Amino acid sequence: MKGLILSGGKGTRLYPLTYTSAKQLIPVANKPVLFRVIEAIRDAGITEIGIVVGDTAEEIKAAVGRGGRWNVHITYIHQEKPLGLAHAVKVSRDFLGDERFVMFLGDNVIQGGISELIEQFASSDWNSQVVLTKVAHPELYGVAELDDDGQIKRLVEKPKNPVSNLALVGIYMFDKNIHEAVNNITPSWRGELEITDAIQWLVEHGYKVYPYIHRGWWIDTGKREDLLEANSLVLEELTPVIEGYVDRDSQVDGRVTIEKGAEIINSVIRGPTIIGERTRVVNSYIGPFTSIYHDVLIEDSEIERAIVLEHSVIRDIPARIQDSVIGRHVQLVRSPIKPKAYKLTLGDHSQVGIL
Ligand code: TTP
Repeated sequence: MKGLILSGGKGTRLYPLTYTSAKQLIPVANKPVLFRVIEAIRDAGITEIGIVVGDTAEEIKAAVGRGGRWNVHITYIHQEKPLGLAHAVKVSRDFLGDERFVMFLGDNVIQGGISELIEQFASSDWNSQVVLTKVAHPELYGVAELDDDGQIKRLVEKPKNPVSNLALVGIYMFDKNIHEAVNNITPSWRGELEITDAIQWLVEHGYKVYPYIHRGWWIDTGKREDLLEANSLVLEELTPVIEGYVDRDSQVDGRVTIEKGAEIINSVIRGPTIIGERTRVVNSYIGPFTSIYHDVLIEDSEIERAIVLEHSVIRDIPARIQDSVIGRHVQLVRSPIKPKAYKLTLGDHSQVGIL
């Protein structure tokens, strides 16, 4: 089997963070979501992986390389425009050949990996298998209707009156018949070739499409709140390691990871939390569910349930920062220069909540 990861797209829901950079490279518990996807596919025994890339191709190539780090071989597939998930399959035709494959959205995080479902599909004669999970609000997702034999009968995008609470997770398995399906569908109202339409085409043409019901958590990190939620869930499962320096005046909980070269000075760190390489935390409080990435400085401040990306500085902030995602090279500091005022340089679509 081969693996296909979708890492193009626009990432509009994470603007301004994803104006200039790929959302799949945003770290969750200090590891980019895309790396977690590659590892899940590799752990299922697949070594030939194609990554569909768009405008952020160069950044993704620079971060991922050819896959040697994971003992896999990576092929990049260029998608001119994000014209839909089924379009991404279309442009990957040469890479995929006639092999069976798993397609994984590059911004999704799933608990427990995908080895079990790959095994099930690889040993079956099914033409496709889609991963479903129970959700509280099926009207917000693609929903599957099953027949009496448990086979998929119908898929509906964001149904007004959902027939089940089983939503499509961003993981799909196909055999070569999907290529005929993607060539036989037309763009939807939003101008995209939808993978749900291609799967529906398979069902209607008598191919066997089965569900795999995933029972752990699964998160699409496309929005800020979901990114924070994924970060919390992954931090809960992390095995803590202290590789950095903690001075005697600091209190560090049992569920805290401190990466190499990090320094904790006169601070309190409550887990689950991770502090990245060469980051300094001075006279500060870092609360649960926080991931501070590499080369950050946090001084005289308090932060909880947040993600802070590399090379940012947070200094002398009077109120606790919470439920926040802070980008790269951000300076969030108290200024001594008069007049006493908020002085902001914010990108388009920034969101700031002030006391
Ligand atoms: P989406 O989250 O559906 O789309 P998006 O990334 O454009 O984000 P937004 O809705 O915020 O604008 O995409 C899911 C994944 O699939 C994501 O990793 C991007 C990828 N993708 C492609 O590679 N090609 C495509 O044509 C599309 C639509 C998405």
